Amino acid sequence: MEASLKAAAIVPDKRLQKLVDTVQELSLARNLESVTRIVRTAARQLTGADGATFVLRDKDKCFYVDEDAISPLWKGSRFPIERCISGWAMLNKQHVIIPDIYVDDRIPTEAYRPTFVKSLVMVPIRTMAPIGAIGNYWAHEHEATEDEAQILQSLADITAVTLENVQIYEELEERVKLRTAELEVANKQLETFAYSVSHDLRSPLAGIQGLTQLLQEDYKDLFDETGNELTGLITKSVTNMTQLIDDLLVFFTTSQKELKAGDTSMKNMAIEYFNELKQLEPADRIFDFSIADLPNAPVDASLIKHVWLNLLSNAIKYSRKKDRTVINIGFESTPENITYFVADKGSGFDMQYYDKLFGAFQRLHSEADFEGNGIGLSLVERIISRYNGKIWAEGKPGEGATFYFSLPRKQPSPLEIAM
Ligand SMILES: Nc1ncnc2c1ncn2[C@@H]1O[C@H](COP(=O)(O)OP(=O)(O)OP(=O)(O)O)[C@@H](O)[C@H]1O
Ligand SMILES: [Mg+2]
Repeated sequence: MEASLKAAAIVPDKRLQKLVDTVQELSLARNLESVTRIVRTAARQLTGADGATFVLRDKDKCFYVDEDAISPLWKGSRFPIERCISGWAMLNKQHVIIPDIYVDDRIPTEAYRPTFVKSLVMVPIRTMAPIGAIGNYWAHEHEATEDEAQILQSLADITAVTLENVQIYEELEERVKLRTAELEVANKQLETFAYSVSHDLRSPLAGIQGLTQLLQEDYKDLFDETGNELTGLITKSVTNMTQLIDDLLVFFTTSQKELKAGDTSMKNMAIEYFNELKQLEPADRIFDFSIADLPNAPVDASLIKHVWLNLLSNAIKYSRKKDRTVINIGFESTPENITYFVADKGSGFDMQYYDKLFGAFQRLHSEADFEGNGIGLSLVERIISRYNGKIWAEGKPGEGATFYFSLPRKQPSPLEIAM
């Protein structure tokens, strides 16, 4: 219901409280609509009038934006600023009290005749350079007191400040939106560029790898021991760089890759990649591997495999200094999520540096202790967050680390993602 039929009059000592409440309400208003709603209601309650209007100046017109009254007034209408009483209050920068509108020649009586109005008080919003006005109307003859005009003027002054804040807020919001959109475009361009550079680096790298292999095979006898060691180091660095480039390519494509729904056996995948990674380790390394009966996940196998590969390769790598490599894979589930975890009893990490754990190119161990590029976990985090999941970890130096990732049981449909 737009207007209540009877606004309860507020006794003077309660007016201040009402004004304070209104200030609080206005401080939360973020758009013009809520400001007008709050003000028109408060304006009427503060004086117990039969009606209140909220008027804004629209160039040389007075725009009656909103109202709260016993019967309709002029909501939505525009009147020339020279020929309406709100215009008079704005042009003269002062309030006006009119006990009988039919004997005051500032009033365009033809506009008032269809209404209930007999008396009114009108105050300008922002007295220095008015941007609007607030009106109060009575159906019976009522000479508004200076007190009533004063309290309305206070409301109008607060309204002026609120309107300025709303404008600043809206401008800021607009600017943030614009900047975010610009940043997204710039980010995409940067990723496309980084992707093509990474991609193009692959072939010269493959060239170096091939040539080094030739040196190692065909010229082995011409090199002394140091020479052979050096070619071995070149191969190692090249392999490392190839791995980095491959990880980067996945990293850059993850945000653009279309998400496919799937029903991936996480258990099979974890076992498969563990065995693959184990093959790369010295034959005498002792593994103590256990895995629970992991539930399937509604995710794309070609993406989620990078999660297992990275978490398992970390668990294996950071356990290298221990006599046994103990890895335990398990899960916990709730109706909404499944949380998988990979726990190891390796070198662990210091929780003090947790903030760096998932950052690209951030490492918590030195290259001398454990080789690496620091890209693995940031890639894992990117993939998990694309599935609206979460990743976190716990670690203790010398004792091991556990990495958890949770995935929602229900993934949004491709249509929802596109939107
Ligand atoms: N299982 C783990 N145990 C102890 N520390 C870990 C473990 N996994 C990751 N970390 C720490 O987190 C850092 C970041 O891991 P991340 O996988 O991103 O990089 P990386 O292993 O150093 O290099 P990359 O994976 O790119 O080859 C590591 O450098 C290491 O310090
Ligand atoms: Mg890693």
